[in-house]
Amino acid sequence: MAYCLISKNENETKNIAQAIATFFSSGDIILLEGDLGVGKTHFVQGFAQGVASNDTVTSPTFSIANFYRSQNIGVLHIDMYRIEKEEEFNDIGLADYYTQNIVLVEWGTKFPGYFEEYFLVSISNHTNSKTDRTISFSFQGEKYSSLFNQIIQNLPKHKKC
Ligand SMILES: Nc1ncnc2c1ncn2[C@@H]1O[C@H](COP(=O)(O)OP(=O)(O)O)[C@@H](O)[C@H]1O
Ligand SMILES: [Mg+2]
Repeated sequence: MAYCLISKNENETKNIAQAIATFFSSGDIILLEGDLGVGKTHFVQGFAQGVASNDTVTSPTFSIANFYRSQNIGVLHIDMYRIEKEEEFNDIGLADYYTQNIVLVEWGTKFPGYFEEYFLVSISNHTNSKTDRTISFSFQGEKYSSLFNQIIQNLPKHKKC
């Protein structure tokens, strides 16, 4: 099952991310997929605003991971773009921080099956417009089933694909 929204510009992408952020809690894993420059990092920026973090969100393409904090919750923002092997990623030891944070992973579906259960955000750009994006939500694993339903019931209906 997937649910899809249209974003017309980077602010709409941030607003959509901000709107879903409040449904998540520590230990949740959100994987982001989509081509380079499609808006994954902008989505995380909106998400961090949604959990009331004032920390600056930057692309962790080179740092691999950034942490952001709000008063109530932590966000772990990972980018697997430069990771070539699962073992290389395991060696960094980020899994130790999953339970204490909401985890967002750019290029998170790079190694199929690596994450067993996750909420999935797929972003694509397939129209002629420079700024139109399709943002699609789905999930893998029973853990995210009710969360998914709650989220799709609370999203702005007019933006549906
Ligand atoms: N609808 C949109 N949503 C998000 N970003 C958009 C949108 N339209 C244009 N952009 C632009 O696309 C780029 C997305 O960059 P970024 O979020 O870093 O992508 P990624 O992390 O997927 O590589 C930014 O320059 C942003 O301004
Ligand atoms: Mg990025």
